[in-house]
Amino acid sequence: MSTEENIISVLSEKRTFSPHESFIKQANLNKSEYDRLILKANTDLEGFWDELAENNIFWFKKWEKVLDWNEPFSKWFVGAKTNISYNCLDRHLRNKANKTALIWIGENGEKKELTYKELFSEVCKFSNSLLKLGIKELDRVIIYMPLIPEAVVAMLACARIGAIHSVVFGGFSKEALADRINDAKARLVITADGGYRRGQVVPLKSNVDEALKKCPTIENVIVVQRVGVCHDKPLHFNVSINRGRDIFYHDLVSKESEVSEPHLLDSEHPLFTLYTSGTTGKPKGILHTTGGYILWATVTTKWIFDIKDTDVYWCTADIGWITGHTYVVYGPLSCGATVLLYEGAPNYPDWAIFWKIINENKVSVFYTAPTAIRSFMKAGDEWVKKYNLSSLRLLGSVGEPINPEAWMWYHENIGAKKCPIVDTWWQTETGGILISPLPGITVTKPGSATFPLPGIFASVVDQDGNSVGPNEGGSLVIKKPWPSMLRTIYGDDERYKKNYWSQIKGAYFAGDGARCDEDGYFWILGRVDDVIKVSGHRLSTMEIESALVSHHDVAEAAVVGYPHDIKGEAICAFVVLKSNVTARSVGDEAVPIGIASPSARNDIKLIEKLKQHVVKEIGPIAKPDQIKFTDSLPKTRSGKIMRRLLRDIASGKQTTGDTTTLEDVSVLEKLRIEEE
Ligand code: WT7
Repeated sequence: MSTEENIISVLSEKRTFSPHESFIKQANLNKSEYDRLILKANTDLEGFWDELAENNIFWFKKWEKVLDWNEPFSKWFVGAKTNISYNCLDRHLRNKANKTALIWIGENGEKKELTYKELFSEVCKFSNSLLKLGIKELDRVIIYMPLIPEAVVAMLACARIGAIHSVVFGGFSKEALADRINDAKARLVITADGGYRRGQVVPLKSNVDEALKKCPTIENVIVVQRVGVCHDKPLHFNVSINRGRDIFYHDLVSKESEVSEPHLLDSEHPLFTLYTSGTTGKPKGILHTTGGYILWATVTTKWIFDIKDTDVYWCTADIGWITGHTYVVYGPLSCGATVLLYEGAPNYPDWAIFWKIINENKVSVFYTAPTAIRSFMKAGDEWVKKYNLSSLRLLGSVGEPINPEAWMWYHENIGAKKCPIVDTWWQTETGGILISPLPGITVTKPGSATFPLPGIFASVVDQDGNSVGPNEGGSLVIKKPWPSMLRTIYGDDERYKKNYWSQIKGAYFAGDGARCDEDGYFWILGRVDDVIKVSGHRLSTMEIESALVSHHDVAEAAVVGYPHDIKGEAICAFVVLKSNVTARSVGDEAVPIGIASPSARNDIKLIEKLKQHVVKEIGPIAKPDQIKFTDSLPKTRSGKIMRRLLRDIASGKQTTGDTTTLEDVSVLEKLRIEEE
């Protein structure tokens, strides 16, 4: 079949892909074990978790009870003691001390490898340094770093001593960083002088310096020299050092011993918070804990990525996202895998860099995002053809729905039609993958995340919580607690309850719409709340709106997502300017009075200013693709912005559906006229 024919049959959901015999034979999870697990989960769910915890994780002390469930609060493996860094490092020292744990590749091509023994020593040294600085169990530590081995060391060292880490993506602005530091009331920031991004230096340390002007709780800053040369030589890249507060990483660790005892932590000891966007302007600190999290991270890595000792595993996520936590660091290291880390972007120095890395390092398992796959498709197949990708045996996708066209391209061009593709559905909140094909078992349909994993009770329901029929759309819910679920929103139990456990009675509401087809396959339809997914990054429309209204020229703003070929969704902001914004008040720019006039709409300078303002407030990932000026926004009589209408306008669609609740129908007409 040609690709075109394939896509047509795929779009009609008729074409299915079965795992190859050779893959089935060697898979970590086979059909008979899968059937046994499903039966066990259906008949004795606690026994199911008990058995998995016993077989996959090292515990210093066993639990008295598998689950303590007081909806919506859960405690898993109650009374047990463990340590995640012990599971990721110490337990491999007997058989895998000299196995490569990390292969790190810098944006400028440098390469560093660390064995399990070496990674263990680095983590021990840094744990000792943290203890000497006075960091105690439950203290919050912010990690704001490029993707370098020290970032992984920092996470594991916090986990080793029971400090709670909170990684802030290096692309976030100093404002976003300050908000997160203050919400966490953190004592320490671990950063680098800078990070490389497409040949440019991102000034991480100076962002930290700026942020800390508003962060009274921070006592120390540890700085890794990534961009500047070694400390005993003159710096190429100058960072200011605040004596008494800032310390270089290399100065700290050089004095430390290469062993440190892991703290014996309670199974419910907090491991990390990770900030993610919700439906309000304020990011939420999603809290994950120890025993349940590492169990599900480990088991899903084994089942879904089929990790073997011989694999070179590469997940392209940054550690600033949940995927970087669970499937770059904790899951694969707990499985004793060889993990590749790449510091750079997929298109620098050119569109072949990923394929070059796969070829040179014999990567066998590759996990990336649909937005990256679509960019590769657009860049052209010739980049892929430059390198031999025959080491690949399994492919994964995450972050947003993968469209069947991208799935087919991935399958044919990267997977050479032989690699199973796992389209994994999950969230920051779920801690690990909940819906995904199992590569040696599941018959896949391109575009479907297929089925919930054993132990996961997912369902598509209506507003009253009743299951909907085949192919009917509804809300995606999880009906029973699972070990890697978020425990709360840091410092805000009420918001946790309200956000996730109040919309549909007795179930966790994910915020996604979905449907199940007649064969029971799950098709994720995207967010049903005010969260948008731009290049797989999760953003709240309200967060971008607050950033816009914090600009002195803006009175009101409404932000919506609209479909985009590569990014999945793009951002359109409708902006009402303050009535006194005239040519004089915005400097020498020609902004005429009568804002909605075509010349104001096309005021490139003001548009660019507002875009840059959002970049400054949040970061480049939140930069609007389009800004449209208007003199009012369509609202319901109760004052709610009618985003559906704005979405239609942003995507150039004819406005459909009911507009009878619109407060001022003329607003819509005006917006339409402006479009023409
Ligand atoms: C949201 C969670 C999970 C790690 C990365 C994103 C969307 C995620 C899929 C998928 C369709 C997906 C959902 C979800 N999403 N994976 N395979 N198919 N949609 O984590 O930033 O917390 O975002 O990403 O909308 O709710 P996140």
